[in-house]
Amino acid sequence: MSDARSSESGFPIQGVYTAADLPADLDARLGEPGEFPYTRGVYPTMYTSRPWTMRQYAGFGTATESNARYHQLLRAGTMGLSVAFDLPTQMGYDSDDPIAHGEVGKVGVAIDSIEDMRTLFGGIPLDKVSTSMTINAPGSVLLLLYQLVAEENGVPGAALNGTIQNDILKEYIARGTYIFPPKPSLRLVADTFAYCRAEVPKWNTISISGYHMAEAGASPAQEVAFTLANGVEYVRAALAAGLAVDDFAPRLSFFFVARTTLLEEVAKFRAARRIWARLMRDEFGAKNPKSMMLRFHTQTAGVQLTAQQPEVNLVRVAVQGLGAVLGGTQSLHTNSFDEAIALPTEKAARLALRTQQVLAYETDLTATVDPFAGSYVVEAMTAEVEAAATELMDRVFDHGSAVDAIEAGFQKREIEQSAYRIAQEIDSGERVVVGLNRFRIDEEEPYEPLRVDPSIEAAQGERLARLRAERDSGAVERALAELRAAAEGDTNVLYPMKEALRARATVGEVCGTLREVWGIYRPSDRF
Ligand code: 3HC
Repeated sequence: MSDARSSESGFPIQGVYTAADLPADLDARLGEPGEFPYTRGVYPTMYTSRPWTMRQYAGFGTATESNARYHQLLRAGTMGLSVAFDLPTQMGYDSDDPIAHGEVGKVGVAIDSIEDMRTLFGGIPLDKVSTSMTINAPGSVLLLLYQLVAEENGVPGAALNGTIQNDILKEYIARGTYIFPPKPSLRLVADTFAYCRAEVPKWNTISISGYHMAEAGASPAQEVAFTLANGVEYVRAALAAGLAVDDFAPRLSFFFVARTTLLEEVAKFRAARRIWARLMRDEFGAKNPKSMMLRFHTQTAGVQLTAQQPEVNLVRVAVQGLGAVLGGTQSLHTNSFDEAIALPTEKAARLALRTQQVLAYETDLTATVDPFAGSYVVEAMTAEVEAAATELMDRVFDHGSAVDAIEAGFQKREIEQSAYRIAQEIDSGERVVVGLNRFRIDEEEPYEPLRVDPSIEAAQGERLARLRAERDSGAVERALAELRAAAEGDTNVLYPMKEALRARATVGEVCGTLREVWGIYRPSDRF
């Protein structure tokens, strides 16, 4: 038999699996759908009673342009919104801050104030949709702006459904949109957990993400290990802040990638649910079953898309989406086939959504729960990924905590080694990328991507100048002083933050006030 192919996580994939490869304690490992350890899925009926949420990540330019795209997606049948913010917003700078020049509205929508947030959600019933916001360091700021706009439309906090990504630790490891050092950042996360429990109880307070580490090169086992280790850090920070585990854990959520290596990805999702369930019950003493359920969103792997023969990406995304569904995702974003070239056109975004609709409404995937249960290969792989991820989590904790490991550069180094191996395999042709290193064509057909109007930076600057001229600057100054006092003390910063935003303080002014008190994170140069 030819040499066994290696899985993405590094264990060998056998040419044939038999009953002998099934874990000895399979029944205990499996459990029932919707029951501990949730290997088969977090809900007893999964998609047989409700398909996953089709939630397409979108946002660019001004709030007006993004609002139009959200209405297009809702008309096309998307079931949840997912907001992409531009880098200045993600880093807590206003559009007219010199540091923002050239980035305004580029990789997402520019949001500077409550006025932009009103425009962003104009005509959208916030009591009917669930909205995910990919925002981390200023996650609490954007949540409060969302809540303020909802309140203006008569929608109370208790009726709001959605998620803020709010996962600062993976920003230090792989994504980079951090602001404050770890200690105040974890304090802000704990304050957000407490605030949401009291004011926005159905809100998912964090989306603990493996996606970006995977896009940076992490293997499935690394993705699970580093994500769940970060999850442990957040749980510990909330407990240290005096919260009870069952008071916040039910509203933790997760976010993973779906690669083209479908079998191992299904195993990865099942292993992650099992590890998290045991951690929450056995390590943190959770009693509420919802505290033990790993509910997650999936995005298909952007890094596996090619600019060459871009239509081939439609096939990759379909396979990746299939893996996410077979793995029991609660929410899914399918990438547009042109995303390796530029921001997706409306047609490409619609095709990405149609891919999910074919999976949900033309296949038999929603007819039964966890179809791979008992599969020789998937159960064997699930056990392999679980073992590899657990061993890696132990290596993280050998540093003390996930933050200590981050400061030592452990996760970053591990991911870089994986990324290097993948790059070598592509360069050598050992790892086939159709259209890139095999099955190429000589003449690529030209493709006209979407372009963001560069004049929006000036338009945002004018909006900010008008806002600052019209608002009650005394009220803003007083509210920001209250925020500063809370940040210097130990009271929950979200309450004074909300009043500052209501008085039309900008995202940059709120984050600037916190930067002055807490400083900014400077990566150690030890790696
Ligand atoms: N049986 C019983 N109840 C069910 C059910 C079933 N079969 N299916 C669903 N439900 C219920 C759920 O319990 C839930 O009710 P609850 O809120 O009262 O518990 C409701 O129906 C909605 O179901 P879900 O919560 O499963 O689905 P949602 O879509 O609302 O939430 C989530 C999914 C993963 C928990 C949530 O956190 C989420 O939507 N995350 C999305 C994150 C996201 O979109 N991120 C984008 C990141 S983009 C990015 O970072 C990449 C960029 O940087 C490149």
